[in-house]
Amino acid sequence: MKRIIIEGGYPLKGTISIGGAKNSAVALIPASLLAEGISKIDNIPNITDRDALFDIIKLLNCQIKQSGNTITIDTNNLKNTLINQELSVKLRASYYFMGVLLAKYKHVEIYFPGGCNIGNRPIDLHLKGFRALGAKITKRKHKYILDADELKGTTINLDFPSVGATINIMFAATLAKGTTIIKNAAKEVEIINIMEFLNKMGANIKGAGTDTITIEGVEKMHSTEFTVMPDRIEAGTYIMMGALLGDNLKIVGFNPHHNEALLNHLNDMGVKYELEDNAIIISKCEKLKPIDIKTLVYPGFPTDLGQPMSVLLTQAEGISHMEETIWENRVGHYPYLQKMGANIELDGLKATIKGKTELKGTEINATDLRGGAALILAGLIAKGTTTVYDIDYILRGYENIINKLSDVGAKIKIETI
Ligand code: EPZ
Repeated sequence: MKRIIIEGGYPLKGTISIGGAKNSAVALIPASLLAEGISKIDNIPNITDRDALFDIIKLLNCQIKQSGNTITIDTNNLKNTLINQELSVKLRASYYFMGVLLAKYKHVEIYFPGGCNIGNRPIDLHLKGFRALGAKITKRKHKYILDADELKGTTINLDFPSVGATINIMFAATLAKGTTIIKNAAKEVEIINIMEFLNKMGANIKGAGTDTITIEGVEKMHSTEFTVMPDRIEAGTYIMMGALLGDNLKIVGFNPHHNEALLNHLNDMGVKYELEDNAIIISKCEKLKPIDIKTLVYPGFPTDLGQPMSVLLTQAEGISHMEETIWENRVGHYPYLQKMGANIELDGLKATIKGKTELKGTEINATDLRGGAALILAGLIAKGTTTVYDIDYILRGYENIINKLSDVGAKIKIETI
């Protein structure tokens, strides 16, 4: 078992480089199976979610070669096989193999367990889209079998702008006959990155980044080369660390315009920073103003930054509110912040956070990926030593987080016990 040990209170000075976007990469890797041949993808982040997807790709008899953050995927010997629970449960994004294998083979067998620490995470909207295209879906406990004689384009109205359903339906529609229109589509920028990859492979898609995406089905797709966009959530997490501990901390290799909602809220809190084309320079804000935040779909304040932001709010001078509106259980980190001395009252998914409170180092547990990042942030500002357990959650989505932080002055290390 591993744990992270943090000595709090050290300023962060120097440069942090942002890696490839997890929430794009975990869709691009399955999408490469839509093509015949060998595709190359650069800027794949070095995170355990990537490795879990590689295991499924290998199960499907495809060859993966990796050198640093670049991978090649050879789909010439792809064999459409049952994706077992042991592999599919490792990450939620395994559901992208449904849309890809349905498009390519009109048949998919995959175990897909529901639920995780931030919520029930149903896939009813994904399945609604697949059925609308002509798929018959049989579900036995957690095993899904999808079959279609053919997939025909149609208009699909999403009840909720689900990121995963938007992407998965886009996958299924790439090789369908005719035109598919997704209405009330999610507008997250990762979907634009994924559309660009699919179009480079020969798909014919327009409208990603808006609430209406049009996919003209094509006969077949070919391999290509592509680069994953930078991770706006990783960047946002380090930006918030800079707002609490930065000494001209420079965060490079991302598009600050993808973090407008966060930057607007930081402006409201009195945080100063300088923007460059693909970087931000940020220092500790001595007097944080309290604010009220609701997490929303893009371009609103991202749910994936709500938990780290709640740590910032413990240092604001006054009463703030943080309300999670996307996931019904994304509040697991609060009891640990309270254990560190934060003054937080939780009513359902709405936290009332009174600051400024000094946090004290203690033993805590990561409850999920972004909750874990929030607890690292709390440890970095706390007085004394913080030990974080269950850190595998964090390693799923933050590439080299220990090195990136210790390289800019944080006293942080991983211990195996
Ligand atoms: C993606 O999850 C991200 N994960 C999540 O990031 C992110 O929080 C989320 O989008 C929202 O931005 C990946 O991209 C791998 P949704 P996804 O479908 O696609 C409900 C992280 O920390 N819903 O937009 O699973 C669902 O329960 C992760 O990096 C249905 O009801 O999110 C939730 O309440 C966490 N039925 C809401 O919609 C469905 O069929 C948003 O889900 C699908 C979703």
